[in-house]
Amino acid sequence: MGKFVTSQLMERSEHCAVVERGDAGAAKRGDTLRLGEVLSALSYALDITEGQPCGHAARSCLVGMHLAEKLHLLSSDRSSLFYALLLKDAGCSSNAAKMAYLFGADDRKIKHDLKEIDWSKAAEGLRFMRQNVSPEGSRTERFLKMAAMLLHGPGGAKKLVQTRCERGAAVARTLGFPEMTAQAILDLDEHWNGQGHPRGLRGEEISLAGRIAGLAQTFEVFYTKLGLTAALEMTLARSGTWFDPTLVSLLHGLAAEDEFRSELARRDADVAVACYEPHDVPRYADDALLDRVAEAFAQVVDAKSPWTHKHSRGVADLALGMGRAVGFEADRLRRLRRTALLHDIGKLGVSNLVLDKPGKLTDEEFAAMKKHPDFSERILARVPAFASMAEIAGAHHERLDGRGYYRGVASETLPLESRIVMVADVFEALTAARPYRAGMPAEKVIDMLERDAGTSVCPTALNLLKRHLERKDFTSRVEHQLEALDLLHQDLAAPVCMAC
Ligand SMILES: [Fe+2]
Ligand SMILES: [Fe+2]
Repeated sequence: MGKFVTSQLMERSEHCAVVERGDAGAAKRGDTLRLGEVLSALSYALDITEGQPCGHAARSCLVGMHLAEKLHLLSSDRSSLFYALLLKDAGCSSNAAKMAYLFGADDRKIKHDLKEIDWSKAAEGLRFMRQNVSPEGSRTERFLKMAAMLLHGPGGAKKLVQTRCERGAAVARTLGFPEMTAQAILDLDEHWNGQGHPRGLRGEEISLAGRIAGLAQTFEVFYTKLGLTAALEMTLARSGTWFDPTLVSLLHGLAAEDEFRSELARRDADVAVACYEPHDVPRYADDALLDRVAEAFAQVVDAKSPWTHKHSRGVADLALGMGRAVGFEADRLRRLRRTALLHDIGKLGVSNLVLDKPGKLTDEEFAAMKKHPDFSERILARVPAFASMAEIAGAHHERLDGRGYYRGVASETLPLESRIVMVADVFEALTAARPYRAGMPAEKVIDMLERDAGTSVCPTALNLLKRHLERKDFTSRVEHQLEALDLLHQDLAAPVCMAC
């Protein structure tokens, strides 16, 4: 083993010792939090958007980083790859509404099942469409959806992948990662034989990081669902078509190593993967960067549906104004704003069939919707630096009289921050349009909230909202929603054939 590789392994083992000792759950150097630990925990939110079990991105990252070590990649390149693997699905919410509409099915199930087939083969793509298009629909509905997808021919599937990859790469750039990170995300679904999407790159035209990430993510899906043997068989079957044969060989060599197998089997993949963040390429999550992370993930949440376009940002602006009105100091304001930005992160785990339904939800659909504050709480509780916000985010649909969800507790007993986010959330949502109603004027919403003050709505928080609105003009986001809906409709005019 060369001196260089030995030094990589020593760095990793020192860092692992810090992470696994716990240090209050945070991998810290001194008092500084590593960005990798924040993103590996937040990647669980991206996993649920993709319909994957929690830990998918973190485990894919583990696989990719083992491959990077075998390839003796430079620290700077391993660092770029590390963040690419954690953020690879940051764009996945941006095509969810289109996916749900086109298939007439749960976007999370479609995304999950697509990862298990070889969609580059026309016969497999057609079989997938037959099995998954409008599963609850009538024969006529199924026929019409299939026909609509087939009639529009090639280009549609590419567009779906392109939207996801470009959006994911944009998130990586927003967070200040190098171009190599963005490029790996762009190349995630390119195939060695040139039959991948979106650009149909071939062989070494695909960035090395993109080839590693593509292999690692597909291997992880098969490993988690079917076990190591099946995952290795899949990589052999697709070697030279989907995957770089050299990387497949390296992966098979790794699979013979006990350390690799035992790390793959760990349930706490996010903790395990933090050991692989190259710590000689320092990326610490200071307050300014944590703000950008919260803003970036708020955009991921808002991209899930055209109806929620810019919702989280709007709630954050209102909550910040309300916090200022009550005189919160800077740190408390910063936490409040981050909480408001991320209060709906659990919506990433709700199907767009429910989020975008143009009518009353059934009991079953409403039960699915009611889970999202619980998801928000669980996701944020895992994230160092955001854990203290988890309970507040989890309570954003509670009500003063205890008739809210998901716990149904009387919000009077909750901290003021919770009640601020609740009122900001209701006001913002009612002034915006929903699939089944138009947006309401701000004055009308305030009147409605005043009628409920003291029964379901906290009067203190409502007063703070009114004080904020006296100082600052409010513009609803209906115009932005219309733009987002228009873009979706234009996009739907160029539909999809998974077999093309
Ligand atoms: Fe919500
Ligand atoms: Fe919300």
